[in-house]
Amino acid sequence: MNKKLRFIQVGTGGFGARWCEGILPYIVNELNIAELVGAVDVNPVAHQNAIKYTGLDAFRCYTDLRTALEEQPCDFVVIVLPAHLHEYAVDLALEYNCHILMEKPISDTIEGSCRIYHKVKRANRNMAITISHRFDQDKQTLQRLLQSRQYGKLHYLIGRFTTNNRAAVSNPREYAHHHFLISSAVHQLDILRALAGSNAKTVYTQSWNPDWAPFKEHSTALISIEMENGVRALYEGSKSNAVQLNGWLQDYYRAECELASLELDHRQLTVRSDLGFPYPNRAEVPLLEQRSWTHRWLMEMFIAWLQGGEAPPNSLDDNLQGTALQFAAIESGLTGEVIDVQTYLQNRLEVADKELG
Ligand SMILES: NC(=O)c1ccc[n+]([C@@H]2O[C@H](COP(=O)([O-])OP(=O)(O)OC[C@H]3O[C@@H](n4cnc5c(N)ncnc54)[C@H](O)[C@@H]3O)[C@@H](O)[C@H]2O)c1
Repeated sequence: MNKKLRFIQVGTGGFGARWCEGILPYIVNELNIAELVGAVDVNPVAHQNAIKYTGLDAFRCYTDLRTALEEQPCDFVVIVLPAHLHEYAVDLALEYNCHILMEKPISDTIEGSCRIYHKVKRANRNMAITISHRFDQDKQTLQRLLQSRQYGKLHYLIGRFTTNNRAAVSNPREYAHHHFLISSAVHQLDILRALAGSNAKTVYTQSWNPDWAPFKEHSTALISIEMENGVRALYEGSKSNAVQLNGWLQDYYRAECELASLELDHRQLTVRSDLGFPYPNRAEVPLLEQRSWTHRWLMEMFIAWLQGGEAPPNSLDDNLQGTALQFAAIESGLTGEVIDVQTYLQNRLEVADKELG
């Protein structure tokens, strides 16, 4: 029987409220595989989410992370803070020798992401990122079908996430200098990488802002990616369109394979082929079933890792590749250059390593 791990939830308002309501009760009360020993939020009103949904005692709620770590020793922390505070929280967690499960993105800059990467490696702690959309039921069904090679080799991928988000305003604190679209597209770039079964080799972005869009940053992009395994991907994203064709959780992917075309649209997966039996002219593929998806599943896998299991597919190492693709895509959109993603990442890792001494 594994020892039940102790953890602190950092951030219980905003998206942290969703963690308190939908994820923590599953882990703590339903599966009973970890013990919530504290919750932190600078806003005491947000503590109510942890108290109400998980039954945490009020005396275990803190407005200061250091005090919580000092008074409630734990094995890991869950960080659900705005991205510009991620490095601050990671630093404190490592100081107290904790493993870390943290919301995407690693940081709001590539420099911060590389510093966090080195710090975690030097501290020899486990860290994973809840880049959740890739781990949703529909994407996993498509990914596993591609991995099975049932329809032969993967040729190329198309992805689409287009919305009318004109009423939204970009969050200047979180992404002061970045394209609103591409920062939001972190999930879709990660999904394309997973569907391809490869990290990115090069990326070329055309990004812009139509004159009717209220955004400061580029809100539309066409992104072309060549993966290290030779698979090509084309991604269309916009937050400035007149209609939401494929929004959150309803995004579109098409995988052109040697023997069939696999299309995922609004969570429906269809296979089409003109090649005749045994390949279907048109067939719906039922989505896979398992006990949990997205955050719940990611937290289960993280806990299993800390208990001696294998590293989960959303480990810090994996997510750094997605992060590099994201920031290289942003840079390509700003410079008009094709970016070699691996060189881009290696250069920034070296700079961060020197900076940390
Ligand atoms: N995986 C997903 O689908 C998904 C969806 C939404 C948000 N997120 C991620 O979740 C994270 C949080 O986003 P959000 O929109 O909830 O942010 P937010 O700005 O709403 O802040 C979340 C909470 O952090 C608290 N907080 C702020 N500073 C703090 C500090 N120094 N110490 C303790 N608490 C502090 C706030 O009071 C708030 O309750 C981000 O990394 C975001 O990218 C992920």
